[in-house]
Amino acid sequence: MSGTPSAEGGAARGLFITIEGGEGSGKTGLAPRLMTHLEHLGFDTVRTREPGGCPQAEEIRSLVVSGGADRWSPEAELLLFMAARREHLNRVILPAVARGAVVVCDRFLDSTVAYQGMKGVAEDTILDAHRLLCDDVRPDLTLLLDLDPVVGLARAGKRLAAQSSTEGRFESMGLAWHQGVRAAFLHMAAREPQRFAVIDAARDQEAVIDAALAAVTDRLRDGVGAELAAIQAAARRALGGDEAARVWLRQPAYGLGFDIPERLLGTKEGRQRVLTALGQIEYGVYS
Ligand SMILES: Nc1ncnc2c1ncn2[C@@H]1O[C@H](COP(=O)(O)OP(=O)(O)O)[C@@H](O)[C@H]1O
Ligand SMILES: [Mg+2]
Repeated sequence: MSGTPSAEGGAARGLFITIEGGEGSGKTGLAPRLMTHLEHLGFDTVRTREPGGCPQAEEIRSLVVSGGADRWSPEAELLLFMAARREHLNRVILPAVARGAVVVCDRFLDSTVAYQGMKGVAEDTILDAHRLLCDDVRPDLTLLLDLDPVVGLARAGKRLAAQSSTEGRFESMGLAWHQGVRAAFLHMAAREPQRFAVIDAARDQEAVIDAALAAVTDRLRDGVGAELAAIQAAARRALGGDEAARVWLRQPAYGLGFDIPERLLGTKEGRQRVLTALGQIEYGVYS
């Protein structure tokens, strides 16, 4: 989504991060680790997935991820994915981002462009539909787990068997098709390098997770991080000295969390300085 989170007044908004990639690339394994990472950084987080993410969309999920490969025409399938996405945006993603949370979604629009595109739906049709019916909502950051489908399908096949899952409809599409999906993802990433971080997912799982977390930290430093640095500098100026407040952006919609130096809290003047500084920061004097 456009813009970056802001600590000023009602303009606070969170971040929308998506994880994309082919079958077995490690998306679902990465998600809980990314949540832990973001929580340690002090963010309010929401983990979700597509298709699905709310009861209405989960019902649609069962229609599209199971059954035979030709269960749906490409156009009907696109509409089912879009119906699920509209509900998911309304009920989960948009409210969470509006209250300042970081939303991490396992698959989103790029999967639709790659998969339904490979089924013959024109990319313009998909993007026009998204603009008309889903407010053209785009992620702030997309982690693309890039992997040769020969490796990915072998991993996914093991997982489906281990979980006795019936969600194998897309896995059943054949290798050449999945190679096309991979190429489509890489094409989108090349077109929008500022949004995508491409992660080599052929490495062992810990290396892939490390690379993904580093990419997120980098983007936060550029976006939220720049704002946080400005607030910290202002707090330092207001409270005086290097050992002054360490300020952490927690839930932007609800304000900021502060670590106030003990020595300031020990005296009345110190406490007054803290209150004055907080007041200045709250009213945006920090910039
Ligand atoms: N880097 C990796 N190396 C080996 N196996 C992996 C790796 N990443 C994930 N796996 C395994 O592959 C399977 C699919 O991973 P998963 O995270 O479910 O992928 P996705 O959600 O992208 O389909 C799981 O059984 C997982 O444990
Ligand atoms: Mg998955």
